[in-house]
Amino acid sequence: MKVLVIGSGGREHALVWKLSQSRRVDKIYCCPGNAGIAELAECVDIDPLDFDAILNLVKYEWIDLTIVGPEDPLAAGLATVFRKDGRKIFGPGIDAARLEASKSFSKDFMRRYGLPTADYKVFTSYMHAEDYVRLKGAPIVIKADGLAAGKGVIVAKTVHEATDALRLIMKERAFGAAGDKVVVEDCIDGEEASFMAFTDGKIIVPMVSSQDHKRIFDNDLGPNTGGMGAYSPAPVLGPEMEQTVMETIMKPFLRGIQAEGMDFRGVIYVGLMIRDGKKPYVLEFNCRFGDPETQAVLRRLDSDFFEIILATSEGKLAQANIEWKRESSVCVVMASGGYPGKYQKGMAIKGLDNAGKLKDVVVFHAGTVFDGENFVTAGGRVLGVTATGKDVKEAKARAYEAAQMITFEGMQFRKDIADRAIKGDASK
Ligand code: GLY
Repeated sequence: MKVLVIGSGGREHALVWKLSQSRRVDKIYCCPGNAGIAELAECVDIDPLDFDAILNLVKYEWIDLTIVGPEDPLAAGLATVFRKDGRKIFGPGIDAARLEASKSFSKDFMRRYGLPTADYKVFTSYMHAEDYVRLKGAPIVIKADGLAAGKGVIVAKTVHEATDALRLIMKERAFGAAGDKVVVEDCIDGEEASFMAFTDGKIIVPMVSSQDHKRIFDNDLGPNTGGMGAYSPAPVLGPEMEQTVMETIMKPFLRGIQAEGMDFRGVIYVGLMIRDGKKPYVLEFNCRFGDPETQAVLRRLDSDFFEIILATSEGKLAQANIEWKRESSVCVVMASGGYPGKYQKGMAIKGLDNAGKLKDVVVFHAGTVFDGENFVTAGGRVLGVTATGKDVKEAKARAYEAAQMITFEGMQFRKDIADRAIKGDASK
C-alpha cells in the first residue's frame, strides 16, 4: 500500500515513522515533509492547501490512503474533497472540522449536547464584548473564533488584559478574519490534559493519555508556544478519569456528531481542564493529532498503525486491534532561539546521529532542512527528542541525555518536561 501524509512538523515525522513499521506499507509520501521525514518517505513540495495538486499526486502515484496532520487543510475541506473523489482519507470532513475551526460553533455544539464546559458568550461587536468583560471581571478567557495557529486564546488575569486582548483580536485584527467573532469564556482552574481518541463516527477508542507543556520556559512561564514537550501517560488522566471523560464528554460528543450528520473519521483531541482532580471540562476540540503529544503517544503504540488508520477511514474502527506498550514516554522539543517570537533559520544541527543511537531514543524532526552537508534549522520548533522507559522518570532521563548531545546556535528547550508527572505520581 502507498500512503500519503500531509504536513511538515514533528507530529508528521512521528506519523511517518510509525507507518513505516507496518508490513502493509510499501511506500510513504509526504507533502511537504521535512529533512527527517525525507529519510523514510518521498517528500513532495506541495502546499497542504493546494488540493488539486495533492489529488493529482494521489492519482498519478496510485496512493491508497492519505492522512492529514494539520488543521488548516481539514478546515478548508481536504477530506471532503477527497471523499467526493472516492479517495480514502483519514481526517474529518469540512463540517466536523468546524469543531476546531470555529470556537463559537464548537461551544454551541457542547452546549447543545450537554458537554461540561465553561459558560461563555459570543460577540461580533467590540463594544458589547468590552461591556461584558467589565461586567464579569477577571480572570476571564478571550478566544478568537477562527484558527490562529494556537495563538488566539488569551487567559486574561485582569480586566485590562482582557480589553487589550479584545482590542488585539477585534480592532487590530492580529489574527485576521479569525477575529470576526470572539468567545468570552469563564476561567476554569485545574490541571490541563490532552485526551486523544480515534473515531470513525460510530465508536470512539481512546489513545493513551498525555499532557503537553505550552509555555516556552520552565515552570510554565513565558508566552504560549505550539508545545514544548509532552509525556505519556498523564497521571491526572488515569483509568477512572478516562471512564469519566468517556461517559460525560465522549458519549455526548458521539451523539452530537451523529445527530448532526457530521462525517468524522479521524482523531478527536479534547483539550481538558480537570478541576480538583475530579471533574473534567472541555476547553476546546481539535480534530487532528496533537503536536507534540503524538510524538510521545505513538512511541507507545504496539499495534499496526496503518491498520488503525485504514480501519478508521473506512468506518470499521471496531475491527482494529489497538494495543499500547506499558512503558512511559517523554518528548522534549528543541526550539530556535527567540521562538515563539522572531527566530533565525539556517543553524547547523550537530549531534543528531549520536543522540539517535541512544537506547530507546527517537529524534523526530520538525523545522529542519538538509543543506547538502548538515541538517539545519528551518522553523521555530526544530526537533522532538523522544524516549521511552519503564516509567516517566526513566523516559525523561533518556530523553534529556539525548537532548544534551544535540547543539545548534540559539537552541532552547525546557528542562522540566514531565516533572509534573514525576512529582505527582508517588509510585515512580
Ligand atoms: N499540543 C497542542 C496542539 O497540538 O494543539
